[in-house]
Amino acid sequence: MSAVMDIYDPELYVDGPIHEIFADLRRTQPVYWQDMPGEPGYWAILTHADVAHVARNPLLFSAETGGVVLENQSPERLEMQRNMLLMMDPPRHTEYRKPLAEHFKARVMGELEDRVRELTALLLDGVDGEVEFVHDVAGVLPSQVVGGLFGIPAQDWPNIRQWAEQTTSQQDPDLVGDFDATAEITKMAIYAIQFAMRRRTEEPRADLTSLILAGEFGGKAMSDIEFGSFFTQLVTAGNDTTKTMLSSGLHLLLDHPEQLRALRSDPALIPGAVEEILRFANPLHYFRRTATADTEIRGVPIKAGDKVAMWYTSANRDEAVFTEPQRFDIRRNPNPHLSFGLAQHYCLGVHLARLEGRVFFEELLRRFPRIEQIGEARRIRSNLNNGLKSLPILLSR
Ligand code: HEM
Repeated sequence: MSAVMDIYDPELYVDGPIHEIFADLRRTQPVYWQDMPGEPGYWAILTHADVAHVARNPLLFSAETGGVVLENQSPERLEMQRNMLLMMDPPRHTEYRKPLAEHFKARVMGELEDRVRELTALLLDGVDGEVEFVHDVAGVLPSQVVGGLFGIPAQDWPNIRQWAEQTTSQQDPDLVGDFDATAEITKMAIYAIQFAMRRRTEEPRADLTSLILAGEFGGKAMSDIEFGSFFTQLVTAGNDTTKTMLSSGLHLLLDHPEQLRALRSDPALIPGAVEEILRFANPLHYFRRTATADTEIRGVPIKAGDKVAMWYTSANRDEAVFTEPQRFDIRRNPNPHLSFGLAQHYCLGVHLARLEGRVFFEELLRRFPRIEQIGEARRIRSNLNNGLKSLPILLSR
């Protein structure tokens, strides 16, 4: 294979992740320099160990300096994102994350199981026959769950979903439409700010909004504007990722009918299947950092200011960590995939995402003894979002 591959080009990902190219690069150039059109390129970090090294050194590899996507953001856009956990470095990150982490622990999320099941049941009871699974089914649940967590009234959930969907997948003309991502994010933030302002005048409730408004972050209460940023980040972080886990998950199971049969006869296999879906079809290809000092990775010199991309899609198939990494295996154990990141910025919503994955597949398989794909699956054109934009399915009870 040629030594120079353009792994930035979003077009390359339309037919599926480029696993052969990554496998080749892991052998030959695991710290790979990639040019970008119109701005400096980046180092693609392709092995599991090196992705972990970058994630574990948040001061050397900063999220705050240049954000987490490959394309450099304008100073105004970076400023807007300053209050998002994802874009903070320690010590500020730690001060904000610690009080929040309490509310996202496995035990706290576990208490939501009945509610998540209720929402899932309501959704699945309302569909039958031919559906466009990504939009009509998988895309509905995440904003309902997060909306419920924050105590957002149900009539506003569709708005939340719409704003969240229009802020992602900017590289796919089909999905961008006429929307301006910054304007959509701003609408969601304004909604959240007004929601927080109203809530401060009311009695506290048993939801995340009241808990956050009563909490202390870096020694002080969160302002309404900070709440707006935080809300926006949580909704966008958990929306497309969860939708992808559910839709790519079904797609993978339909492609592996013997494993689907095993899941149907033994639902105890579902949590393991969810992990393997996450490894095999990680919803995000990468997140970026910026080096704050000269350093090296695997002997390759990295200069201060260089972009460094932790390529989860490659790390999740690293032969040094996974046996037969290109094989989908719902019984894989252990399964140390990096689809939720690692260390300082490890996904805050991990327990919620796993809960949604498990409950969704339990309810889906129980309700529909026959599930068939009835048309071609189409993938998002993106080097960041590793997901489907359509999956035609026939659901039979
Ligand atoms: C399958 C679903 C999900 C996937 C694959 C996913 C993936 C990720 C990844 C890779 C990171 C690490 C970012 C980094 O290192 O820069 C992250 C962080 C984060 N995720 Fe998730 N996520 C999912 C669901 C959710 C949900 C449901 C929520 C909340 C409701 C959420 C909230 C967050 C937040 C707040 C962060 C930032 C944490 C921090 O910077 O400390 N995620 N997620």
